Order: sequence, then C-alpha cells, then structure tokens
Amino acid sequence: MFIVSGSSSRDLAKELSLALDCPLIKASTTRFPDGECYTRIDAESLEDDVIIVQNTYPDGNLVEMFLLQDAVRGLGAKSITLVIPYFGYARQDRVFKPGEPTSAKIMAKHLDMDCDRVITIDIHKESVLDYFTCPHEDLKAAPVIADYFRDRRIDIVLSPDIGAAGRAKDVGDRLGVPHDHLQKTRLSGTEVRIAPAHFDCTGKRVLIVDDMISTGGTIVAAAFALREAGAASVSVACTHGVFVNNAIEKLTSSSLDAVLCCNTLENEVSNISVANLIADTIRRG
Ligand code: R5P
Repeated sequence: MFIVSGSSSRDLAKELSLALDCPLIKASTTRFPDGECYTRIDAESLEDDVIIVQNTYPDGNLVEMFLLQDAVRGLGAKSITLVIPYFGYARQDRVFKPGEPTSAKIMAKHLDMDCDRVITIDIHKESVLDYFTCPHEDLKAAPVIADYFRDRRIDIVLSPDIGAAGRAKDVGDRLGVPHDHLQKTRLSGTEVRIAPAHFDCTGKRVLIVDDMISTGGTIVAAAFALREAGAASVSVACTHGVFVNNAIEKLTSSSLDAVLCCNTLENEVSNISVANLIADTIRRG
C-alpha cells in the first residue's frame, strides 16, 4: 500500500503513513504562470493499493485531486482510495433557489469517475456521499476531540445550535459530562440572548463543539454570551478550521480560553489529529 500526499494535507498524510507503516509518496505540485496546476508523483510505478490524501477545498486543491487520481492510475494503481479530510462544497447539497447547481453532487460525481473507495471526516451533510457509486464512509471526529479534552477538565459540552446537538452529546458522553445546545432568543429589535437551552453555565468550564468554523462569528458571539453569563472558561473545538480572513486572530483575541481544530485542514491550531481514526478505518478494510 502507498500513501500519496497531495499539497493540502502533507502532515496528515505523513502521520497516516507512519500509523499504517507504508511508504509516503510525495506529489510535487506547482502552478504554471497562468495559474494552472501541474503535479508530478515522485515514483516510477505504484502497482499496489494507493491512498490519496487531499482536500477538495479550495478549488485549486480539487483540481489537484483530479490530476493526482489520473497520475496514480497511470502509475498502475490496483485500487485508489480517496481520503478527503475536508470535503469542499458539501454545504450546497441541494438546490435552495431555482437555477442553482447541486454543487456537492457534481463534485462527488467527478471524483467518483476514478476511485474505488472514499473516506471523509465529518462531511457537512452525509447524504452527499450517496452521490458516490464506490464504497464510502464518513468518520466522526468526536472520539479524538473527546480524547484531547479528557484531562482538560470540561464540565459541559455545547453545540452552537440544536441541529448539531448530536455532536455535543457524543463528545459529552465520552467525557462523562452533560451536553446542551445554545439557543438564540430575540429579546427586542436589537437584542439577542444566546444561552444554553437547559443548563446554567455559571462557574462551569464549557466546551463548544462544531463541525466547522468559517468566519468565527458564531463562536465569538457564543463565547462572549457565555462568559457574560458567568461561565468559568469557554473553549471551542471544531473538526474543520476553515478560518476565513483573520478568523484565528478574531477567535484567539475573543473571550475564548482555547481554540482547537482537527488537522483535516492544516493550520496553527490544528492540534487534534485524525490520522489514527483514518488508519483504523483503513486497517479494517
Ligand atoms: C453551520 O452549519 C456550521 O456548522 C458552522 O456553525 C458555521 O459554518 C460557522 O460559521 P461561522 O464560523 O462563519 O460563524
């Protein structure tokens, strides 16, 4: 088995190759002066099962993935598994307004053209994977997030909304602490109250979990409200730290005590590794 590392996921691919004890093959990816992607896999042949680790976000990484699939097949791969730590475009999983594409479907369909298995982590909508014809699996980061916080003294786990309550329950149950979701209540035309739906967080060490942080707006507002309401500390952990613009600075200079994410997107706070989670799944076959 070979691990091919795309440019989006160098550290994760390296960890995965160590966990699975199989060779790591690097793809050298550059851009032509006009911006087009050029990639070359550093191998003469790959006549075995091949795992490509690469995100499909932002757009350049998606194109790189298509090129890697073709290059790997050209080198004789017996099977191709795509490990897509962060699957881009999963939010547009249906047509919300007439005239829109189903972006997630079209991305999946194109990736599906040359692969034998797909592994994603906390994809925004699991239904997106049904667009793949090959075997597919979405892994949950809750166990590794819970492991990270096991000795960090958390009293309650919250999700930013009721829709994500399952993730807070999963992490909370693993830590042996209660969970709840945050609820926005409009107090007046200009005032909104954000508070846990059922629990009082006064004096509590709170952990908010979410699948992704993009601008950080949701979490900054929630952390501010929780500290105002008397929480002793507020930490946040998400699976995908998308962190657009200056979101990391915004979060670290807010009322939050800790900001963590998994290494599905590699950045300065991606200290929770999903490598063993992926390795266990691949070992199981
Ligand atoms: C929403 O469905 C997601 O789970 C996140 O809560 C959302 O994307 C966060 O966005 P932002 O960081 O821009 O507030």
